[in-house]
Amino acid sequence: MTWETITLDIDDDVATLTVDRPDQLNALNVETLHAIEEALDEAAAADARVLVVTGAGEDAFVAGADISKMVEMTTPEAQAYAELGHRVADRIETFPAPVIAAINGYAFGGGMELALAADLRVASENAVLGQTEIDLGIIPGWGGTQRLTRLVDDETARRLVFFGARVDATDAHELGLVGELVAHDQLDDHVAELAADLASQPKFALQAAKEAMNAVHDGSQTVGLAYEKRAWSGLFGTHDQREGMQAFLDKREPEFE
Ligand code: COA
Repeated sequence: MTWETITLDIDDDVATLTVDRPDQLNALNVETLHAIEEALDEAAAADARVLVVTGAGEDAFVAGADISKMVEMTTPEAQAYAELGHRVADRIETFPAPVIAAINGYAFGGGMELALAADLRVASENAVLGQTEIDLGIIPGWGGTQRLTRLVDDETARRLVFFGARVDATDAHELGLVGELVAHDQLDDHVAELAADLASQPKFALQAAKEAMNAVHDGSQTVGLAYEKRAWSGLFGTHDQREGMQAFLDKREPEFE
């Protein structure tokens, strides 16, 4: 299958899903999220032993959910968008083989949440990561409030979410947001080697290990994810959500209440 806004390449047991909207810094709109779901189905059906997720172009992994589509959303529309974003993140988390996020540039908001749903994160030195939603008058809505607190310590996660900090690759590595940091021009080769190493591991053991380790967080994460969905969509229609998103689109500073 082919899509307008993503590509999927399957080569030697390794599937590579590339979000491909470089002019919008690979921001995720509804069409792109649906395409990712279809590509995940295709990669799983092809029995991929590793999935790599990355972004097209030189600047961005994924710069977040598409703000131009969110600015006027009502709470019910935001609920549907949250369901879709959560489903995509959940599908990455439960993909039946290891998933590597190859973070080649900006990974903000929903982009960081895609990376958090992966098993392993490799960043190029150009990467910048952040749960930046607070700048838009909202909170992380595709799993970030839950998956971030399991990756880094609780206060670090709170600081990242409360201040929307944009963390460069070196700091992200020190904080444990990414497992590895490599030179920008070595990212593709390094990830290809890592993927090949994983693909040579015993497939069913890897799958079982992933499922077992995902289960550590199962109960509490399910409750937390449901809470996050409600809290996120409940912020739509507030002054700060409208102002935060409109200010981004107008390229000006927001004036919050
Ligand atoms: N949604 C929709 N469009 C986005 C976007 C997003 N999340 N992130 C970037 N874009 C668009 C911009 O609107 C711009 O479009 P335009 O050329 O039509 O004006 C284009 O991508 C390039 O972005 P721009 O802001 O001009 O590039 P920059 O190099 O000055 O800044 C960023 C790059 C990533 C720092 C900045 O785009 C940014 O902060 N993006 C939003 C991040 C965010 O809050 N994400 C969380 C969303 S949940």
